[in-house]
Amino acid sequence: MFSARDFETAARDRLDPVHADFVAGGARDEITVRANEEAYTRLRLLPRVLRGRAVPDLDVTLFGGRARTPVLLSPTAFHRLVDPEGELATARAAAAAGAIMIASMASTVAVGEVAAAARAAAPGETVPLWFQLYLQPDPGITEALVRRAVDAGCTALVVTVDSPVLGASERNRRNGFHDLPAGLRCENLVDLRDGERGHVRQIEMSPEFSWDHITRLREITGLPILLKGVLHPEDARLAVRHGVAGLLVSNHGGRQLDTVPATLEVLPEIVAAVAGRIPVLLDGGIRRGTDAVKALALGARAVGIGRPVMWALAADGEKGVRRLLELLREEIEDALALCGAAGLDELTPDLVRPAWSGRHFGGAGVGGAGVGGAGVGGAGVGGAVFGEAVLGGGAS
Ligand SMILES: Cc1cc2nc3c(=O)[nH]c(=O)nc-3n(C[C@H](O)[C@H](O)[C@H](O)COP(=O)(O)O)c2cc1C
Repeated sequence: MFSARDFETAARDRLDPVHADFVAGGARDEITVRANEEAYTRLRLLPRVLRGRAVPDLDVTLFGGRARTPVLLSPTAFHRLVDPEGELATARAAAAAGAIMIASMASTVAVGEVAAAARAAAPGETVPLWFQLYLQPDPGITEALVRRAVDAGCTALVVTVDSPVLGASERNRRNGFHDLPAGLRCENLVDLRDGERGHVRQIEMSPEFSWDHITRLREITGLPILLKGVLHPEDARLAVRHGVAGLLVSNHGGRQLDTVPATLEVLPEIVAAVAGRIPVLLDGGIRRGTDAVKALALGARAVGIGRPVMWALAADGEKGVRRLLELLREEIEDALALCGAAGLDELTPDLVRPAWSGRHFGGAGVGGAGVGGAGVGGAGVGGAVFGEAVLGGGAS
């Protein structure tokens, strides 16, 4: 295997087509699924040379925890659907790579066991494990889940806020895939209430959640809270105002509201809105080290991967995920060195620019105002953001 794409192909060969569709699919026409990946193809890296830099260092510190790579494992449900060891295998691979894993609330292994597997795979090293949470209408259930995450040793909560209802995957509907097969269940949802022995609760989604629920969550836990799924800059400002510790810019890999922008497209606006007060992370469409480097250069502190982890796990279990993380690490190191950067903090917006559209040939030249506007998302919001907030009016 030489790239994340190789794992995608291998996974498709191995998986039941219904499960392969569950992993690959998105909401409705999957416009956002495609947009996430395509966004990276419309940006170019502009390297610096002869900077006399050391070998690149990929360490990143977030909320007091240290990771050896800026690539984190975004929360994905049902790992045992694609591999018998499921989340245990993923956790071991992540820990060995020094990568932060966000354990999904919809995990097919309980978070306590996921944490134990991670610890055993990296003895003497504390690789952060975070827990992804869907707020539940019954506050007692939310509290019980938080307690489980704390007991497991998770060091942050990632609250997914883009899911007031479940995204409509037409692939799943056509395939009749609505539930886990016999023998698999969401282990974090078992026995959440006294007197419910063996009962597995359903994850409940609700459009009634509001900022008050985030405030209440902060009252019951001292863990840093990140919000996953913020796309609007005004919500980013509100998040800061409500004491949120970080944002994971995400559109759920295009699995919730179809036709929302690519995450890369909104990143500069969110970064500008937050103005350095809290870290901004991003996921969606990252398939190469150069994708990661572009997002990092535009202000993300770390980037998450979802489907590639599922593909690698399906293709070759723990070994597959290890190899995937190794490949992405190599690709990022390579891109950093070729950009003349010794560390992630040397990745700056001037190293990224929109692909030349060709439309302004003979005009202001590459990087001129025309290219900045037309190259990324045309003259609308996306173009304006890249032109003004990030690339300095295209005059850089
Ligand atoms: C199979 C699958 C399951 C997912 N399950 C969850 C989940 O349980 N909770 C959540 O917040 N996001 C979930 N996501 C979204 C991911 O966390 C992430 O936002 C997305 O996959 C990133 O895009 P990428 O797949 O292009 O890397 C899931 C995504 C996939 C592909």
